[in-house]
Amino acid sequence: MNFNQLICGDAVQEMAHLPAACVDLLIADPPYNLGKDYGNNLDRKAWREYEAFTRAWLAQAVRLLKPTGSIYVFMGVRFISRLFMLLEEEFKLEFNGWITWHYTQGMGRKTGFSPRHEDILYFTRSDQFTFNLDDVRVPQKYYRERNNMAGANPGDVWTFSHVHYCSAEREAHPTQKPEALLERIIKASSQPGQVVLDPFVGSGTTCRVAHVLGRAWFGIDINPEYISMSQKRLDAPFEGFDSLDPRAKRTPKDLPGVNPSRVS
Ligand SMILES: C[S@@+](CC[C@H](N)C(=O)[O-])C[C@H]1O[C@@H](n2cnc3c(N)ncnc32)[C@H](O)[C@@H]1O
Repeated sequence: MNFNQLICGDAVQEMAHLPAACVDLLIADPPYNLGKDYGNNLDRKAWREYEAFTRAWLAQAVRLLKPTGSIYVFMGVRFISRLFMLLEEEFKLEFNGWITWHYTQGMGRKTGFSPRHEDILYFTRSDQFTFNLDDVRVPQKYYRERNNMAGANPGDVWTFSHVHYCSAEREAHPTQKPEALLERIIKASSQPGQVVLDPFVGSGTTCRVAHVLGRAWFGIDINPEYISMSQKRLDAPFEGFDSLDPRAKRTPKDLPGVNPSRVS
């Protein structure tokens, strides 16, 4: 099989061409059915039709996962609970985590609370799977003896700002995800050389991060313009991932020798 490929086409049809059990980590950020304009495809279906579409691509995703594989699916609040039921009850995957991505800023509302998060469901194919906690630890708030000096588990509420319109990494894609968020998923749930698939690759975030981290990868998108955008991103020089978790900037307050008057 030829890895490190961007494929233009429908996710369900293109995944059907790949051999079973060839993927270690599947990261899916499908359209959320909220009416986004993705150029040649409009993200607006009747909910039953959307559910049938989700069932169709999930069936392929599960077929492609190795017995030790993991799957992360991004979703908005309107469909997240139904997605959870599909993954657990219909596809019989093992629940691992419900991650909340807190994106810090966004639309305002006057008749309710402003939305500030999306969710990511993390399931595995079986109870045998990769989880590299030491590769994704974040600094502890306090370094006391009982704490792990290598850092803390990042938890399941992740703060990464949206990719701002003014930031250098920003592409002309309406739902580009932060690279640093994908970095955490890929480091935690795959080893170098393993295979990562993103069936809704959009601006190419997953493939770029997987490439930099030395994983083999596939990306699929139905819009040829997004495939070219992803290829350009893959060809661009690497200068670090965007949108760091602000916890990484913490200054430990109680390390011996740290002057408390100098830390905030
Ligand atoms: C939420 S966006 C993915 C954004 C991506 N994670 C990023 O960081 O840029 C969803 C993508 O799915 C693509 N898409 C929609 N329907 C599709 C289908 N049936 N097969 C493959 N891709 C599809 C859209 O063109 C869009 O780029």
